[in-house]
Amino acid sequence: MEKQALLQEFQERFGRREDECRVFFTPGRVNLIGEYTDFNGGHVFPASLSVGTWAVARPRQDGIYHFQSTNFDLTVQTEVKSIVYKKEDDWANYPKGVLVELLKLAGEEAARYTGADILFHGNIPNGAGLSSSASIEVLTGMALSKLAGFPIDNIELAKLAQRAENKFVGVNCGIMDQFAVAMGKANHAIMLKCDTLDYQYVPVELDGYTIVITNTNKRRGLADSKYNERRAECESGLAILQQSMPGIETLGDISYENWQKYKDTIKDEVVQRRVDHVISENTRVLNATDALKKYDIALFGKLMKQSHESLRELFEVTGKELDVLYEEACKVEGCIGTRMTGAGFGGCNVSVVKNEAVASFKEEVAQHYEDRTGLVPEFYLCDIGDGAKEL
Ligand code: GLA
Repeated sequence: MEKQALLQEFQERFGRREDECRVFFTPGRVNLIGEYTDFNGGHVFPASLSVGTWAVARPRQDGIYHFQSTNFDLTVQTEVKSIVYKKEDDWANYPKGVLVELLKLAGEEAARYTGADILFHGNIPNGAGLSSSASIEVLTGMALSKLAGFPIDNIELAKLAQRAENKFVGVNCGIMDQFAVAMGKANHAIMLKCDTLDYQYVPVELDGYTIVITNTNKRRGLADSKYNERRAECESGLAILQQSMPGIETLGDISYENWQKYKDTIKDEVVQRRVDHVISENTRVLNATDALKKYDIALFGKLMKQSHESLRELFEVTGKELDVLYEEACKVEGCIGTRMTGAGFGGCNVSVVKNEAVASFKEEVAQHYEDRTGLVPEFYLCDIGDGAKEL
Protein backbone atom coordinates (compact mmCIF):
# COMPACT_ATOMS: atom_id res chain seq x y z
CA MET A 1 0.00 0.00 0.00
CA GLU A 2 1.28 3.45 -0.88
CA LYS A 3 2.02 5.86 1.95
CA GLN A 4 -0.74 8.22 0.75
CA ALA A 5 -3.33 5.45 0.62
CA LEU A 6 -2.38 4.35 4.11
CA LEU A 7 -2.68 7.90 5.47
CA GLN A 8 -6.08 8.18 3.89
CA GLU A 9 -7.19 4.89 5.39
CA PHE A 10 -5.98 6.11 8.78
CA GLN A 11 -8.02 9.31 8.50
CA GLU A 12 -11.12 7.44 7.50
CA ARG A 13 -10.81 5.33 10.61
CA PHE A 14 -9.57 7.87 13.15
CA GLY A 15 -10.60 11.24 11.71
CA ARG A 16 -8.69 13.96 9.90
CA ARG A 17 -5.76 15.83 11.52
CA GLU A 18 -3.23 15.12 8.81
CA ASP A 19 -0.24 17.10 10.06
CA GLU A 20 0.38 15.00 13.16
CA CYS A 21 0.53 11.59 11.48
CA ARG A 22 3.87 9.81 11.18
CA VAL A 23 4.54 6.72 9.06
CA PHE A 24 7.01 3.93 9.85
CA PHE A 25 8.12 0.70 8.17
CA THR A 26 9.78 -2.49 9.43
CA PRO A 27 10.57 -5.46 7.17
CA GLY A 28 10.27 -9.21 7.61
CA ARG A 29 13.41 -11.36 7.45
CA VAL A 30 14.76 -14.56 5.98
CA ASN A 31 17.63 -16.37 7.65
CA LEU A 32 20.12 -17.62 5.07
CA ILE A 33 21.92 -19.93 7.50
CA GLY A 34 22.42 -20.34 11.28
CA GLU A 35 19.32 -21.82 12.88
CA TYR A 36 18.84 -22.21 16.63
CA THR A 37 22.25 -20.69 17.24
CA ASP A 38 21.00 -17.28 18.41
CA PHE A 39 19.94 -18.08 21.98
CA ASN A 40 23.08 -20.20 22.22
CA GLY A 41 25.39 -17.22 21.75
CA GLY A 42 26.30 -18.32 18.25
CA HIS A 43 26.24 -16.72 14.80
CA VAL A 44 23.32 -16.15 12.43
CA PHE A 45 23.15 -14.77 8.91
CA PRO A 46 19.73 -13.22 8.20
CA ALA A 47 18.63 -10.61 5.67
CA SER A 48 15.71 -8.20 5.85
CA LEU A 49 13.07 -8.46 3.14
CA SER A 50 11.33 -5.80 1.10
CA VAL A 51 7.98 -7.03 2.41
CA GLY A 52 7.10 -5.82 5.89
CA THR A 53 4.74 -3.93 8.15
CA TRP A 54 3.78 -0.25 8.02
CA ALA A 55 2.31 1.88 10.78
CA VAL A 56 0.60 5.26 10.73
CA ALA A 57 0.65 6.72 14.22
CA ARG A 58 -0.76 9.87 15.81
CA PRO A 59 -0.54 10.88 19.47
CA ARG A 60 -3.52 11.14 21.84
CA GLN A 61 -3.58 12.85 25.21
CA ASP A 62 -6.03 10.64 27.13
CA GLY A 63 -3.70 7.72 27.93
CA ILE A 64 -5.41 5.35 25.50
CA TYR A 65 -3.71 3.35 22.74
CA HIS A 66 -5.93 2.26 19.85
CA PHE A 67 -4.55 -0.52 17.64
CA GLN A 68 -6.11 -1.30 14.29
CA SER A 69 -4.91 -3.19 11.25
CA THR A 70 -5.92 -3.28 7.60
CA ASN A 71 -5.22 -7.03 7.69
CA PHE A 72 -7.51 -8.09 10.54
CA ASP A 73 -10.95 -6.97 11.69
CA LEU A 74 -9.99 -7.11 15.35
CA THR A 75 -9.44 -3.68 16.89
CA VAL A 76 -8.00 -3.32 20.37
CA GLN A 77 -7.64 -0.48 22.77
CA THR A 78 -5.67 -0.43 25.95
CA GLU A 79 -5.14 2.09 28.69
CA VAL A 80 -1.57 2.90 29.37
CA LYS A 81 -2.15 2.22 33.09
CA SER A 82 -3.44 -1.32 32.73
CA ILE A 83 -1.91 -3.36 29.96
CA VAL A 84 -2.55 -7.09 30.28
CA TYR A 85 -2.09 -10.07 27.95
CA LYS A 86 -5.43 -11.29 26.61
CA LYS A 87 -5.63 -14.27 24.32
CA GLU A 88 -8.55 -12.73 22.45
CA ASP A 89 -6.44 -9.67 21.63
CA ASP A 90 -4.51 -11.94 19.25
CA TRP A 91 -2.02 -9.93 17.11
CA ALA A 92 -2.50 -6.82 19.28
CA ASN A 93 -0.65 -8.56 22.12
CA TYR A 94 2.58 -7.79 20.23
CA PRO A 95 2.19 -4.00 20.32
CA LYS A 96 0.84 -4.22 23.87
CA GLY A 97 3.89 -6.17 25.03
CA VAL A 98 6.16 -3.61 23.42
CA LEU A 99 4.33 -0.77 25.12
CA VAL A 100 4.89 -2.43 28.50
CA GLU A 101 8.63 -2.57 27.80
CA LEU A 102 8.71 1.04 26.54
CA LEU A 103 7.10 2.22 29.77
CA LYS A 104 9.60 0.29 31.86
CA LEU A 105 12.49 1.74 29.92
CA ALA A 106 11.12 5.26 30.31
CA GLY A 107 10.94 4.87 34.11
CA GLU A 108 10.12 8.22 35.68
CA GLU A 109 9.50 9.71 32.26
CA ALA A 110 6.77 7.18 31.46
CA ALA A 111 4.17 9.96 31.63
CA ARG A 112 5.38 11.01 28.20
CA TYR A 113 3.49 8.01 26.83
CA THR A 114 0.14 9.77 26.56
CA GLY A 115 -1.68 7.46 24.14
CA ALA A 116 -1.92 7.12 20.35
CA ASP A 117 -4.00 5.93 17.45
CA ILE A 118 -2.07 3.49 15.33
CA LEU A 119 -2.99 1.71 12.11
CA PHE A 120 -0.89 -1.24 10.96
CA HIS A 121 -0.70 -2.69 7.50
CA GLY A 122 1.43 -5.67 6.53
CA ASN A 123 2.30 -7.81 3.52
CA ILE A 124 4.42 -10.51 5.20
CA PRO A 125 2.59 -13.83 4.98
CA ASN A 126 1.46 -14.56 8.55
CA GLY A 127 2.66 -17.65 10.36
CA ALA A 128 5.19 -18.33 7.59
CA GLY A 129 8.24 -17.92 9.81
CA LEU A 130 9.30 -14.70 8.07
CA SER A 131 9.11 -12.73 11.32
CA SER A 132 5.84 -10.88 10.98
CA SER A 133 5.74 -10.73 14.79
CA ALA A 134 9.25 -9.29 15.20
CA SER A 135 8.35 -6.82 12.48
CA ILE A 136 5.28 -5.46 14.28
CA GLU A 137 7.17 -5.41 17.59
CA VAL A 138 10.11 -3.35 16.35
CA LEU A 139 7.74 -1.14 14.36
CA THR A 140 5.61 -0.39 17.44
CA GLY A 141 8.73 0.31 19.48
CA MET A 142 10.01 2.80 16.93
CA ALA A 143 6.66 4.50 16.33
CA LEU A 144 5.56 4.90 19.94
CA SER A 145 8.96 5.92 21.30
CA LYS A 146 9.26 8.60 18.63
CA LEU A 147 5.75 9.90 19.32
CA ALA A 148 6.65 10.13 22.99
CA GLY A 149 9.79 12.11 22.13
CA PHE A 150 11.99 9.24 23.30
CA PRO A 151 13.85 8.01 20.22
CA ILE A 152 15.63 4.70 20.88
CA ASP A 153 18.42 3.40 18.65
CA ASN A 154 17.63 0.39 16.50
CA ILE A 155 19.76 -2.11 18.43
CA GLU A 156 18.05 -1.13 21.70
CA LEU A 157 14.70 -1.40 19.93
CA ALA A 158 15.56 -4.95 18.84
CA LYS A 159 16.45 -5.90 22.43
CA LEU A 160 13.30 -4.29 23.78
CA ALA A 161 11.15 -6.11 21.22
CA GLN A 162 12.77 -9.42 22.15
CA ARG A 163 11.99 -8.78 25.84
CA ALA A 164 8.36 -8.10 24.90
CA GLU A 165 8.15 -11.41 23.04
CA ASN A 166 9.87 -13.33 25.88
CA LYS A 167 7.95 -11.82 28.77
CA PHE A 168 4.58 -10.73 27.43
CA VAL A 169 3.93 -13.20 24.63
CA GLY A 170 5.81 -16.03 26.34
CA VAL A 171 7.99 -17.26 23.46
CA ASN A 172 11.55 -17.65 24.63
CA CYS A 173 13.05 -16.53 21.30
CA GLY A 174 16.57 -15.30 20.68
CA ILE A 175 17.59 -11.92 19.26
CA MET A 176 17.94 -12.85 15.58
CA ASP A 177 14.55 -11.82 14.20
CA GLN A 178 14.22 -8.53 16.03
CA PHE A 179 17.82 -7.61 15.21
CA ALA A 180 17.45 -8.50 11.54
CA VAL A 181 14.30 -6.44 11.04
CA ALA A 182 15.61 -3.47 13.04
CA MET A 183 19.09 -3.38 11.51
CA GLY A 184 18.66 -4.76 7.98
CA LYS A 185 20.31 -3.14 4.98
CA ALA A 186 19.27 -3.39 1.32
CA ASN A 187 21.22 -6.00 -0.65
CA HIS A 188 23.13 -7.17 2.42
CA ALA A 189 22.87 -9.99 4.92
CA ILE A 190 23.88 -9.45 8.54
CA MET A 191 26.54 -11.64 10.08
CA LEU A 192 25.61 -11.36 13.76
CA LYS A 193 27.23 -12.83 16.86
CA CYS A 194 24.22 -13.11 19.10
CA ASP A 195 25.75 -12.74 22.58
CA THR A 196 27.93 -9.69 21.94
CA LEU A 197 25.74 -8.31 19.12
CA ASP A 198 28.88 -7.67 17.06
CA TYR A 199 27.71 -7.54 13.49
CA GLN A 200 28.92 -7.04 9.98
CA TYR A 201 27.01 -6.36 6.76
CA VAL A 202 27.95 -8.74 3.94
CA PRO A 203 26.86 -7.90 0.37
CA VAL A 204 24.63 -10.57 -1.09
CA GLU A 205 25.91 -10.69 -4.65
CA LEU A 206 24.60 -13.88 -6.14
CA ASP A 207 25.47 -13.16 -9.72
CA GLY A 208 23.19 -15.29 -11.89
CA TYR A 209 21.23 -16.70 -8.91
CA THR A 210 17.96 -15.83 -7.23
CA ILE A 211 16.91 -16.41 -3.64
CA VAL A 212 13.54 -18.18 -3.70
CA ILE A 213 11.45 -18.50 -0.55
CA THR A 214 8.91 -21.32 -0.59
CA ASN A 215 6.09 -21.34 1.92
CA THR A 216 4.91 -24.79 3.07
CA ASN A 217 1.54 -23.22 3.91
CA LYS A 218 1.38 -25.57 6.84
CA ARG A 219 -0.04 -24.09 10.02
CA ARG A 220 2.65 -23.99 12.65
CA GLY A 221 0.54 -25.54 15.43
CA LEU A 222 2.53 -26.46 18.51
CA ALA A 223 5.63 -24.68 17.33
CA ASP A 224 5.96 -22.36 20.34
CA SER A 225 6.00 -25.11 22.95
CA LYS A 226 8.44 -27.19 20.88
CA TYR A 227 10.61 -24.11 20.52
CA ASN A 228 10.79 -23.59 24.27
CA GLU A 229 11.51 -27.31 24.71
CA ARG A 230 14.51 -27.13 22.35
CA ARG A 231 15.81 -24.15 24.22
CA ALA A 232 15.62 -26.02 27.52
CA GLU A 233 17.47 -29.00 25.99
CA CYS A 234 20.30 -26.71 24.85
CA GLU A 235 20.50 -25.19 28.33
CA SER A 236 20.79 -28.57 29.98
CA GLY A 237 23.56 -29.57 27.52
CA LEU A 238 25.43 -26.38 28.31
CA ALA A 239 25.23 -26.98 32.07
CA ILE A 240 26.87 -30.40 31.64
CA LEU A 241 29.62 -29.11 29.35
CA GLN A 242 30.40 -26.28 31.75
CA GLN A 243 31.54 -28.88 34.28
CA SER A 244 34.40 -29.87 31.95
CA MET A 245 34.93 -26.40 30.47
CA PRO A 246 34.19 -23.92 33.29
CA GLY A 247 35.20 -20.92 31.14
CA ILE A 248 32.39 -21.24 28.62
CA GLU A 249 29.24 -19.17 28.86
CA THR A 250 27.32 -20.34 25.82
CA LEU A 251 27.40 -23.24 23.36
CA GLY A 252 28.65 -20.67 20.84
CA ASP A 253 31.91 -20.48 22.82
CA ILE A 254 32.74 -24.13 22.11
CA SER A 255 34.93 -25.04 19.15
CA TYR A 256 34.08 -28.10 17.13
CA GLU A 257 37.35 -29.72 18.34
CA ASN A 258 36.49 -29.22 22.00
CA TRP A 259 33.01 -30.52 21.38
CA GLN A 260 34.46 -33.76 20.00
CA LYS A 261 36.56 -34.06 23.14
CA TYR A 262 33.74 -33.56 25.65
CA LYS A 263 30.73 -34.81 23.73
CA ASP A 264 30.48 -38.03 25.72
CA THR A 265 30.04 -36.22 29.01
CA ILE A 266 26.44 -35.66 27.85
CA LYS A 267 24.80 -39.01 28.49
CA ASP A 268 21.32 -38.10 27.28
CA GLU A 269 21.42 -38.97 23.61
CA VAL A 270 18.74 -36.43 22.61
CA VAL A 271 20.51 -33.57 24.35
CA GLN A 272 23.79 -34.66 22.75
CA ARG A 273 22.23 -34.44 19.28
CA ARG A 274 20.76 -31.00 19.98
CA VAL A 275 24.15 -29.66 21.03
CA ASP A 276 25.84 -31.36 18.08
CA HIS A 277 23.56 -29.39 15.77
CA VAL A 278 24.19 -26.05 17.46
CA ILE A 279 27.96 -26.36 17.43
CA SER A 280 28.22 -27.65 13.86
CA GLU A 281 25.70 -25.06 12.63
CA ASN A 282 27.72 -22.29 14.19
CA THR A 283 30.79 -23.41 12.23
CA ARG A 284 28.71 -23.58 9.06
CA VAL A 285 27.62 -19.95 9.44
CA LEU A 286 31.23 -18.81 9.59
CA ASN A 287 32.15 -20.91 6.56
CA ALA A 288 29.08 -19.80 4.63
CA THR A 289 29.83 -16.12 5.24
CA ASP A 290 33.38 -16.61 3.97
CA ALA A 291 32.06 -18.48 0.96
CA LEU A 292 29.71 -15.62 0.11
CA LYS A 293 32.48 -13.06 0.48
CA LYS A 294 34.52 -15.09 -2.02
CA TYR A 295 31.54 -15.51 -4.37
CA ASP A 296 31.76 -19.26 -3.84
CA ILE A 297 28.03 -19.88 -4.31
CA ALA A 298 28.53 -23.63 -4.71
CA LEU A 299 30.06 -23.92 -1.24
CA PHE A 300 27.42 -21.61 0.21
CA GLY A 301 24.72 -23.87 -1.24
CA LYS A 302 26.36 -27.02 0.07
CA LEU A 303 26.45 -25.56 3.58
CA MET A 304 22.76 -24.66 3.33
CA LYS A 305 21.96 -28.28 2.56
CA GLN A 306 24.09 -29.53 5.44
CA SER A 307 22.23 -27.12 7.70
CA HIS A 308 18.87 -28.57 6.70
CA GLU A 309 20.06 -32.11 7.25
CA SER A 310 21.36 -31.26 10.68
CA LEU A 311 18.06 -29.57 11.58
CA ARG A 312 16.24 -32.67 10.39
CA GLU A 313 18.41 -35.37 11.95
CA LEU A 314 19.90 -33.77 15.03
CA PHE A 315 17.67 -30.90 16.06
CA GLU A 316 14.42 -32.40 14.74
CA VAL A 317 12.53 -29.24 13.89
CA THR A 318 11.78 -29.77 10.20
CA GLY A 319 8.70 -32.00 9.88
CA LYS A 320 7.29 -33.65 6.79
CA GLU A 321 6.39 -30.56 4.76
CA LEU A 322 9.77 -28.86 5.08
CA ASP A 323 11.53 -32.14 4.34
CA VAL A 324 9.48 -32.72 1.21
CA LEU A 325 10.28 -29.19 0.00
CA TYR A 326 13.94 -29.83 0.71
CA GLU A 327 13.98 -33.14 -1.18
CA GLU A 328 12.09 -31.77 -4.15
CA ALA A 329 14.21 -28.62 -4.31
CA CYS A 330 17.40 -30.72 -4.26
CA LYS A 331 16.19 -32.60 -7.31
CA VAL A 332 15.80 -29.49 -9.46
CA GLU A 333 18.76 -28.81 -11.68
CA GLY A 334 20.02 -25.30 -11.00
CA CYS A 335 19.03 -25.31 -7.32
CA ILE A 336 22.42 -24.96 -5.69
CA GLY A 337 21.38 -24.59 -2.05
CA THR A 338 18.20 -25.14 -0.07
CA ARG A 339 17.11 -25.42 3.57
CA MET A 340 14.35 -24.65 6.01
CA THR A 341 14.53 -21.14 7.48
CA GLY A 342 13.37 -19.82 10.86
CA ALA A 343 12.01 -21.94 13.68
CA GLY A 344 10.78 -24.82 11.49
CA PHE A 345 7.75 -27.07 12.16
CA GLY A 346 6.24 -25.60 8.99
CA GLY A 347 6.96 -22.11 7.74
CA CYS A 348 9.34 -21.52 4.87
CA ASN A 349 12.21 -22.99 2.91
CA VAL A 350 14.89 -20.78 1.33
CA SER A 351 16.68 -21.83 -1.85
CA VAL A 352 19.38 -20.40 -4.10
CA VAL A 353 18.41 -21.10 -7.69
CA LYS A 354 20.03 -20.27 -11.05
CA ASN A 355 18.07 -17.45 -12.67
CA GLU A 356 17.19 -19.52 -15.72
CA ALA A 357 15.99 -22.42 -13.55
CA VAL A 358 13.58 -20.40 -11.35
CA ALA A 359 10.54 -21.12 -13.51
CA SER A 360 11.14 -24.88 -13.60
CA PHE A 361 11.99 -24.84 -9.89
CA LYS A 362 8.59 -23.36 -9.08
CA GLU A 363 6.77 -25.70 -11.39
CA GLU A 364 8.45 -28.93 -10.33
CA VAL A 365 8.56 -28.22 -6.62
CA ALA A 366 4.92 -27.12 -6.60
CA GLN A 367 3.71 -30.18 -8.40
CA HIS A 368 5.61 -32.77 -6.38
CA TYR A 369 5.01 -31.01 -3.07
CA GLU A 370 1.29 -30.91 -3.71
CA ASP A 371 1.26 -34.58 -4.76
CA ARG A 372 3.08 -35.63 -1.64
CA THR A 373 1.46 -33.40 1.01
CA GLY A 374 -1.87 -32.23 -0.43
CA LEU A 375 -0.80 -28.64 0.28
CA VAL A 376 -0.22 -25.88 -2.26
CA PRO A 377 3.07 -24.03 -1.70
CA GLU A 378 3.69 -20.35 -2.42
CA PHE A 379 6.87 -18.83 -3.83
CA TYR A 380 8.37 -15.42 -3.16
CA LEU A 381 11.37 -14.09 -5.03
CA CYS A 382 13.39 -12.41 -2.37
CA ASP A 383 14.47 -8.76 -2.47
CA ILE A 384 16.67 -7.70 0.40
CA GLY A 385 15.41 -4.33 1.63
CA ASP A 386 16.20 -1.91 4.46
CA GLY A 387 15.58 -2.32 8.17
CA ALA A 388 13.19 -0.32 10.37
CA LYS A 389 12.79 3.33 9.42
CA GLU A 390 10.49 6.33 9.44
CA LEU A 391 9.14 7.13 6.00
C1 GLA B 1 12.74 -18.16 15.56
C2 GLA B 1 13.20 -17.32 16.74
C3 GLA B 1 14.67 -16.91 16.56
C4 GLA B 1 15.55 -18.12 16.23
C5 GLA B 1 14.94 -18.99 15.14
C6 GLA B 1 15.66 -20.28 14.94
O1 GLA B 1 12.73 -17.41 14.37
O2 GLA B 1 12.40 -16.18 16.88
O3 GLA B 1 15.11 -16.24 17.71
O4 GLA B 1 15.82 -18.86 17.39
O5 GLA B 1 13.59 -19.29 15.40
O6 GLA B 1 16.93 -20.05 14.43
